Amino acid sequence: MDINQIEIVHRLTESSRGILAADESVSTCEKRFSPFGIENTEENRRAYRDGLFGANISKYLSGIILHEETLNQENLAGRKFSEELGGKNVLVGIKVDQGLENMNGSQLEQYSLGMETLKLRLEDYKSKGATFTKWRTVYRISDSTPSSELLSVNSNTLAEYAREVLSAGMVPIVEPEVLMDGDHGIKKDREVTYLVLKSLFQKLSEFGIDFSKIILKPNMVAPGSGSTEKVSAIEIADNTLAVLQEVLPDNLGGVAFLSGGIDPDLAIESLRQINLRKTSHLRMTFSFARALQASFLNTWRGSADNLEKARSDFEIQLGKASLAATIYT
Ligand code: 13P
Repeated sequence: MDINQIEIVHRLTESSRGILAADESVSTCEKRFSPFGIENTEENRRAYRDGLFGANISKYLSGIILHEETLNQENLAGRKFSEELGGKNVLVGIKVDQGLENMNGSQLEQYSLGMETLKLRLEDYKSKGATFTKWRTVYRISDSTPSSELLSVNSNTLAEYAREVLSAGMVPIVEPEVLMDGDHGIKKDREVTYLVLKSLFQKLSEFGIDFSKIILKPNMVAPGSGSTEKVSAIEIADNTLAVLQEVLPDNLGGVAFLSGGIDPDLAIESLRQINLRKTSHLRMTFSFARALQASFLNTWRGSADNLEKARSDFEIQLGKASLAATIYT
């Protein structure tokens, strides 16, 4: 059944459901698996995704963002993952950027790769059942970064990406992530997040992007991971909303936050506070990876013997996130 872009946006941002980002690259899987001694093989990545998607997810997840490898894989029962998700009323998304490259020879600033082949790849992904996509750009906070050059390069990339995806009939999730790396406080994070989003929305507007057909995936505003500043979920919510309510257009399709390495329960509680405190009608939900998957991984540890318990831990986390994304009107 064909579903149009506005319907996709509405489904992805509906009350009580959100998006699972299960699109870790092979190298990010290595980081997630190695603390548990799980070997980072294609089969183990397949078993990991089989474990997650085989849980009772329909009530909590409207969509899952896959890595290209997973889109081409079958679950352990021999069914395409995309078909399994379709059968569970979960939309299939795909990460379409292809990693990061250092800008001006410094690791402090990186731009993302993959634009040259995007158009062709979109046709392929769509034919395999994907209805929405994600592209991530990153910004590191330091005394000298992010530079205005990086803001401009990344905004341009995200706008070009959004234009391509919309013309392919899919929904783009636009992800400008201000990283938590560093010892900056929440005030600095708020200033940088504001500049990043302002630059992005100016560029999207220049490109004539129809805001109602896109979803923004921003970071929540929080102190750096090396900061000694302790903040509550309410402070994260208030700082995040202050930025978003100043920068976002009224007709934006919706917002789906990344968790960014914030403690999982704090990220979920912050989303709950955001939804309790926001004054705009914009839908705000989750598009978490770590905040949802960490408990599963910690219990599963690569062993089928632990699967049932790991799935039940995952469902508990999904249930909390779902409540945080519930709009009471
Ligand atoms: P985290 O929630 O772990 O930050 O991941 C979200 C994501 O998709 C990052 O690109």
